[in-house]
Amino acid sequence: MEEFGVLQLHRNKHFIKDCCAVINSEWPRSETARLHSLEASCDTLPTSLVLVKKLENNGNKAVIGHSKITPIPSMLGSCFVESVVIDHRYRGKGLGKFLMYKTEEYIKTLGINTVYLSTKDKEDFYSKLGYVRCPPVSIYGSFSSVQKLPVIISPSKKIYMKKKL
Ligand SMILES: CC(C)(COP(=O)(O)OP(=O)(O)OC[C@H]1O[C@@H](n2cnc3c(N)ncnc32)[C@H](O)[C@@H]1OP(=O)(O)O)[C@@H](O)C(=O)NCCC(=O)NCCS
Repeated sequence: MEEFGVLQLHRNKHFIKDCCAVINSEWPRSETARLHSLEASCDTLPTSLVLVKKLENNGNKAVIGHSKITPIPSMLGSCFVESVVIDHRYRGKGLGKFLMYKTEEYIKTLGINTVYLSTKDKEDFYSKLGYVRCPPVSIYGSFSSVQKLPVIISPSKKIYMKKKL
């Protein structure tokens, strides 16, 4: 894996457009809105991490993946991981797992020990990394207001998962 690395986007701003393209190839959104969200990355959360690959021909690096760590202000010691994506050409090679482990390593350096995430159809991927199902978590406020509104939760079939680091 030495040809791969995981970097903080805000310390490597020249990757921002390529990072935007990788995310938008999976979840299309206006480039302006996406760039705006990526530009919020900072040392305190939110932080976007980019998975880069060293190119053989010139030694430059190409962005091939992304993860975003978001704070949960109401839950000290916890964070939310979202927008985890690997460029479709590089999937199925263990790089999603590598990116998640590096993301967790980074989270631990912040003194955070519980990671939450939500997913519609990648439960098996996250289970293999040690995540288990949990009640819905809102990054904006209390849980109970979300749990009492099944009409919001059920159409998307989104599930929540957590892992203690
Ligand atoms: C989900 C994603 C990040 C996985 O990345 P990846 O590089 O293909 O995954 P890896 O090769 O590291 O797989 C790690 C393990 O998870 C398994 N796995 C990967 N994707 C899976 C899936 N969709 N369903 C079930 N298992 C999966 C692999 O078989 C592998 O198992 P193993 O350790 O027993 O060999 C990638 O498929 C992706 O970017 N998908 C589109 C975006 C997305 O849906 N992101 C998640 C949002 S919640």
